[in-house]
Amino acid sequence: MEILDQLALLTIAYDKGDARRIHHFLKVHAFARLIGIAEGLSGRELFNLEAAAYLHDIGIHQGEIRFGRNDGKIQEQLGPEEAKPLLDRLDITGADQDRILWLIAHHHSYETIDGLDAQILAEADMLVNPYEDGTNRESNQHLYEMLYKTKTGKKLFEELYLEEYKPGSSH
Ligand SMILES: [Fe+2]
Repeated sequence: MEILDQLALLTIAYDKGDARRIHHFLKVHAFARLIGIAEGLSGRELFNLEAAAYLHDIGIHQGEIRFGRNDGKIQEQLGPEEAKPLLDRLDITGADQDRILWLIAHHHSYETIDGLDAQILAEADMLVNPYEDGTNRESNQHLYEMLYKTKTGKKLFEELYLEEYKPGSSH
């Protein structure tokens, strides 16, 4: 089995009993992978992005258990130490592990985005969150203007949240 598929299974096992979180990171991974491929990431960058997408919210359970909160800051603080043993188990080490842990530790801090991988992870997360959180059109428009930079991420966000679906209209 591919290492990334093994990582997906390990992360699902870590989050067992919490289907919402499992669905969330599987969706974020799917969007991150699509954007990463379409935007031409190298094989290694794509690998690290995909791993970070599976693991980005792994700090949530410890945040809830230890501090009673699961906001972005606590996810960033607690995520890396939860993710590290999973990466070690799959021999994802060195600079790759460092980048994955960095991406986890900064995925809600848009001001620190320092590369296409970090940009894509943030975009992929926010392709999923408005649907899960039930946001309105105005806040979606604001998010689109504030965050989206890649051509592929923009197009996907428009298609998910800014287009109107009317049953019965032709394609
Ligand atoms: Fe997320």
